[in-house]
Amino acid sequence: MANEIVIKDLHVNVEGKEILKGIDLTVRQGEVHAIMGPNGSGKSTLANTLAGNPKYAVTGGDILYRGESILNWKPDERARRGIFLAFQYPMAIPGVTVANFLRTAVNAKRRENATNGNAKAISIPEFRKLVTQKMALLKLDTSFATRYLNDGFSGGEKKRVEILQMAVLNPEMAILDETDSGLDIDALRIVSDGVNTLRGPNLGILLITHYQRILNYIKPDFVHVMVNGKLAMSGGPELALQLEEKGYDWLKEEGIGK
Ligand SMILES: Nc1ncnc2c1ncn2[C@@H]1O[C@H](COP(=O)(O)OP(=O)(O)OP(=O)(O)O)[C@@H](O)[C@H]1O
Ligand SMILES: [Mg+2]
Repeated sequence: MANEIVIKDLHVNVEGKEILKGIDLTVRQGEVHAIMGPNGSGKSTLANTLAGNPKYAVTGGDILYRGESILNWKPDERARRGIFLAFQYPMAIPGVTVANFLRTAVNAKRRENATNGNAKAISIPEFRKLVTQKMALLKLDTSFATRYLNDGFSGGEKKRVEILQMAVLNPEMAILDETDSGLDIDALRIVSDGVNTLRGPNLGILLITHYQRILNYIKPDFVHVMVNGKLAMSGGPELALQLEEKGYDWLKEEGIGK
């Protein structure tokens, strides 16, 4: 079974309020889907629901991964099985270094993938080589490895370190929630290049963004617009350009997404 994610008529409540009102979306491996849409329309809610954040209550529909419902999978299980979320607002974890965090995550994934139950932890030299290589890819200074995760990182540094995690963990399905926001022009290119390097037939990407600009670098196969908890419109990369030009009022004028 392919590692695609199939979202079926998904309804999600947050704090008792319905935020997602019936989302249908399939992201196959090898595809890049961009989701745009006004503030508060439910984009991060979808991302958090896919990652299994318990604050987000699925009240209807289903999420299938490799043909199996994942609604009962805990967030760490989803992560170990290849679903990765880069947060819109990454949290600081004082006391846990970037290197330790990554090594723990890599080993958890190894244990999950081991078929005979005796997964070997990654050796220190092998891990060091992997992280050094991925840090170079994202042009991150190696000193970040020994810093506490996101503690005192600038906005742009946090976003780069999110993609470092993605590069090291090598997921099958990556959800990037506004990874481009807060990046300066050079960092946007570096992060995009990083994502493009990871792009391939085994990786599906759901890219949430407000700006068409990142889509010049990471070319999406599909663009969707979320309005008021629903995907109001879908198209190709040209849809992002249209939105940039005309704004979301254009959709309202067309009577879409009310
Ligand atoms: N934990 C929460 N408690 C209360 N309301 C919430 C919570 N999380 C989300 N919401 C509400 O759900 C709605 C959708 O929020 P969400 O973060 O998904 O929007 P978004 O499309 O990602 O917006 P943005 O573009 O600003 O990031 C908002 O009205 C928000 O206030
Ligand atoms: Mg958001």
